[in-house]
Amino acid sequence: MIKIAPSVLAADILNMERDVRRVIEAGADWIHLDVMDAHFVPNLSYGPALVEELHDRFPDTPIDVHLMMDNPQYYIDTFCRVGASCLTIHTEVSADVSDILRRIRAHGVMAGLAIKPGTPVEMIRDLLPLTDMVLVMTVEPGFGGQKFNAGMMAKLTELRKMGYVGLIECDGGLSMDNLPELRAHGLDVAVMGTYMFTTQTPAEDIQRMRLM
Ligand code: DX5
Ligand code: ZN
Repeated sequence: MIKIAPSVLAADILNMERDVRRVIEAGADWIHLDVMDAHFVPNLSYGPALVEELHDRFPDTPIDVHLMMDNPQYYIDTFCRVGASCLTIHTEVSADVSDILRRIRAHGVMAGLAIKPGTPVEMIRDLLPLTDMVLVMTVEPGFGGQKFNAGMMAKLTELRKMGYVGLIECDGGLSMDNLPELRAHGLDVAVMGTYMFTTQTPAEDIQRMRLM
């Protein structure tokens, strides 16, 4: 069954606890948290302290941390220690990606690998055995509320053709409109920012999404 991971980037930052509680009570499976360093992407967000607080207040909901940052190797241990359930790094960073993925797994945390829209799936073929989840970006990383790039769906089919059996997650511009087609292409985890934090009917929507 598909997992729904609301991205808190679209929550009201001054009412984060209220907004997160609302989507969890509506049935969200994971909470997706975007860490941005104003270098790998042109935006700046939060760090490990927010992961720690969320984990403390919502201990039963896995926190899916998406690191859009250079030099992730220096922060892996901290994010794992404060309660990330899944830690995703970008393959485009100039670091030893395979070593970082191994280190994440050594913490007992799921290791995710993200690719930007311009990065072909072929680039990560050799890393797939070290990866529990591939995050296929469906917008340029950095900001919420962007338009979904339907051209990315072919990457899901390609991953499965390569024999990849781990989770596939998509992030950027997801909504009730594109979810059925993403599902048909093999999507497992739907990151939803704007959609999940603006809908008036989150519980009904999540129920409908589960049937897709
Ligand atoms: C974009 C982030 C996303 C973002 C998605 O760089 O990685 O997680 O919050 O937001 P929506 O669903 O609004 O496109
Ligand atoms: Zn994200």
